[in-house]
Amino acid sequence: MHILHVVGARPNFMKLAPVYAALQDRAGVRQTVVHTGQHYDAAMSEVFFRELGLPAPDINLEVGSHSHAQQTAAIMMRFEPVLLTAKPDVVLVYGDVNSTVAAALVASKLLVPIAHVEAGLRSFDRTMPEEINRLLTDSLADLLLTPSVDAHENLAREGIPSSKIRFVGNVMIDTLVRLLPRAVVPEEVNGLSHYALVTLHRPSNVDEPEMLARVLKALEEIAKEMPVIFPIHPRTRQRIEGFGLTAGNGNGIRLLNPLPYLGFLGLQRQAAVVITDSGGIQEETTFLGVPCITLRTTTERPVTVTEGTNTLIGDAPERLHPEVMAILGGRRKAGRIPPLWDGQAAKRIADILVL
Ligand code: UD1
Repeated sequence: MHILHVVGARPNFMKLAPVYAALQDRAGVRQTVVHTGQHYDAAMSEVFFRELGLPAPDINLEVGSHSHAQQTAAIMMRFEPVLLTAKPDVVLVYGDVNSTVAAALVASKLLVPIAHVEAGLRSFDRTMPEEINRLLTDSLADLLLTPSVDAHENLAREGIPSSKIRFVGNVMIDTLVRLLPRAVVPEEVNGLSHYALVTLHRPSNVDEPEMLARVLKALEEIAKEMPVIFPIHPRTRQRIEGFGLTAGNGNGIRLLNPLPYLGFLGLQRQAAVVITDSGGIQEETTFLGVPCITLRTTTERPVTVTEGTNTLIGDAPERLHPEVMAILGGRRKAGRIPPLWDGQAAKRIADILVL
């Protein structure tokens, strides 16, 4: 059986790693990894392959950054001949990035079966590019592998037959469980014990100068209470510089380059609070029992709010400081770990794929 994985952006890599490893143990399985090149900086891609123990991709489509249409189209044009040559039995796509939907579109037209890892999540906000990617990928997929029970209601509502859907759990948590013992605090921030950890890169938070200025002001307020550590996504750094804003140095915010997996995990585990707009970090903080404040109006991962440690504050950065103060004052959500976030999701996927 030939299984072809398609990944492209940072959050895909920690989802691929456990699935690749689980399939490696199975007799008669051959695997090919295609990297679209959506993320290409060493700090956004290569370092993850190394830390996660993944082999270098077999093929890199090297598409780079463009508008959504251009990036998606470039992936499709470059992936089509690869798929025609490789002739896999199944294509595995991960998460909700542009690489996911582009690969699914190509595979569906060539009648190659598609399995979607992390199927069924919905924010119900179609202004998010990821929501469009989720809806399309799930409608094209032949096998929908879900991380949480809310996904099943979403897929049923969209008319997807239950025979295509399997509840396998959260593969991102598989990677966390495996690598937590090796998590480290990065050298740049060694010695800090009480801090807020921040990651922000969504268009809704960083693409408008007025909103980004409000976000940075709110972080400065928090920096008066405790150090604010902000490993910054290249897109956010470009926006700050492009809008002539300032962050770091004088105003108490410690900007770092994007961190490798083990360093970020080490910082997350010990954070007093995490402030984010990422999807995966909402899940990781829930697993770790660390308070998380999400600067978004919606989440496609509602179990992190209903069962976990996550609080949504909308697009209101002014709410950050009071929320952080409440958490520091002891008002923390207890939280529990959702079902099947147990480190065994990839094994369940391998069991389904390889009968
Ligand atoms: C993408 C995903 C998002 C995910 C995020 C994780 C989509 C629609 N979005 O967003 O869901 O949460 O990855 O990081 O697929 N850039 C670099 N170096 C890189 C990659 C990007 O400098 O290696 C800069 C470029 O200026 C680029 C910008 O970041 O234009 C945005 O990159 P892109 O891949 O389009 O989207 P992300 O914001 O990274």
